[in-house]
Amino acid sequence: MTDIAELFAHNREWAALMEKERPGFFTNLKAQQKPKYMWIGCSDSRVPANQITGLEPGEVFVHRNVANVVVHSDLNALSTVQFAVEMLKVEHIMVVGHYGCSGVTAALNGVRVGLADNWLRHVQDVRDRHKGLLDQIAESQKPDALVELNVIEQVTNVCQSTVMIDAWHRGQKVTIHGWVYGLDDGLIKDLNMSANSLSALEKGYKNAIANVLKRAV
Ligand code: CO
Repeated sequence: MTDIAELFAHNREWAALMEKERPGFFTNLKAQQKPKYMWIGCSDSRVPANQITGLEPGEVFVHRNVANVVVHSDLNALSTVQFAVEMLKVEHIMVVGHYGCSGVTAALNGVRVGLADNWLRHVQDVRDRHKGLLDQIAESQKPDALVELNVIEQVTNVCQSTVMIDAWHRGQKVTIHGWVYGLDDGLIKDLNMSANSLSALEKGYKNAIANVLKRAV
């Protein structure tokens, strides 16, 4: 069997097993998706949103890109956030980085990787903004610290998007979280900067940045 044929075989087995164990699973999902969660994560194949969180099809709306970046002019990311908030009415959006992120490490060290250099420039902006903090950290700790700082800054970008400003202005209850996933133990760490308003963001941001330094030194 070819590699690709194997995928189809797995798919048929999975669909049959789901239908056997949970009759009507797919027909129920077909009617509507009602996820409570949106996940903004890295494209890295080792960080699959559903498996890590034990969520099933229909339970998490996902946007992934290299190094989990949210840029104010990225219509792709912003459109998914808008759809998630305004149409699906998600209650939580988590920005999830991961330790050992090669995109973040490339940005940290200024390694040229190709077209992605332009994308990773946004992570270099994070690095440069926190140069004073990173200078206090040992070389070996810097990649992990920048992974955390990048999550904190991308949470900030989500909170400051027009989508979230409008949602909170309407009184919609949505909380933005910053998490980091460990490739080596499979565990998610909460950076404890959950924000359900711009003022909560301000407080959470300062604490979260201070905690990055505490963890690293
Ligand atoms: Co990554």
